[in-house]
Amino acid sequence: MLLADFIRGSVAALAPLYPVEEARSIIHLLCEERLGTCSYTHIVDPGYEVPATRQAELDDAVARLGRGEPVQYVLGYTDFCGHRFQVNRSVLIPRPETEELVREAVVRALRLDRPARVLDLCTGSGCIAWSVLLDIPDAEVVAVDVSADALDLARTQFPGRAPLFLQADVLDTAQDFPYGPFDLILANPPYIRESEKARMRPNVLDYEPPLALFVPDGDALLFYRAIARWARRFLRPDGTGIVEINEDLAPQTAAVFREAGFRHVHPLEDFSGKPRFVLFSEFNHNEP
Ligand SMILES: C[S@@+](CC[C@H](N)C(=O)[O-])C[C@H]1O[C@@H](n2cnc3c(N)ncnc32)[C@H](O)[C@@H]1O
Repeated sequence: MLLADFIRGSVAALAPLYPVEEARSIIHLLCEERLGTCSYTHIVDPGYEVPATRQAELDDAVARLGRGEPVQYVLGYTDFCGHRFQVNRSVLIPRPETEELVREAVVRALRLDRPARVLDLCTGSGCIAWSVLLDIPDAEVVAVDVSADALDLARTQFPGRAPLFLQADVLDTAQDFPYGPFDLILANPPYIRESEKARMRPNVLDYEPPLALFVPDGDALLFYRAIARWARRFLRPDGTGIVEINEDLAPQTAAVFREAGFRHVHPLEDFSGKPRFVLFSEFNHNEP
């Protein structure tokens, strides 16, 4: 089959799910990855044939995409902070806005006059933990998730010195944890309320792990209360916490850290101007 015909048919197959430009980008990405072609190969070389030996594999990929599976799971990777992370259905696909959390963390870690000690709660694919370590090779990074499958993937992302990946329930805030104290505590915990499912795209709802996404409507900030407790136990007096948040709950999330006794609590916007992070520091030991 001509590459041009394959692209045309595949873009049409994705039309019910994606705007046409997005469908075209997805198919070009698939072709680049599987055939080594460019987005213009079919134009500059109109006679380019898809090798018959690769056709079944490509058709299978398009069928998966057509059922709504995110392209990152079909390809098996996504790029984050300049690094290629493996992804599978046991982990959330790292999002571009989370890169800003990493940047904030790295700036603060580099200001220290000692190797930074960093804790990443709810690590998933390990994208935050690994990105900090790859930027600051002498950092000591500990990362926690409750999912054994996520941790299996996180541990094998890159060769060489790795973060210490541990299985633990972040909501159990009284557990023994002999790894602190930390200069930075980072987290992108589950924060989408069950009631928000209605406005989410099917390819997120049907494929990404619910454990990574959802919190009950009646207790939407439970992870932040838990993170505040971890920070009270394990953040150094001059350390900083940075959490990603639900944009609709910024004041409420900031209040969790104020009420937990942190003197400096600042919301921070993402690149699209939405409140996306809360930074907190200076724990007041006299508060409850
Ligand atoms: C929003 S995802 C974030 C993943 C990754 N840090 C990122 O930014 O892409 C939340 C993660 O929290 C983990 N998680 C959910 N409940 C947890 C719990 N009680 N304790 C620890 N981790 C939990 C999920 O397995 C998932 O990997």
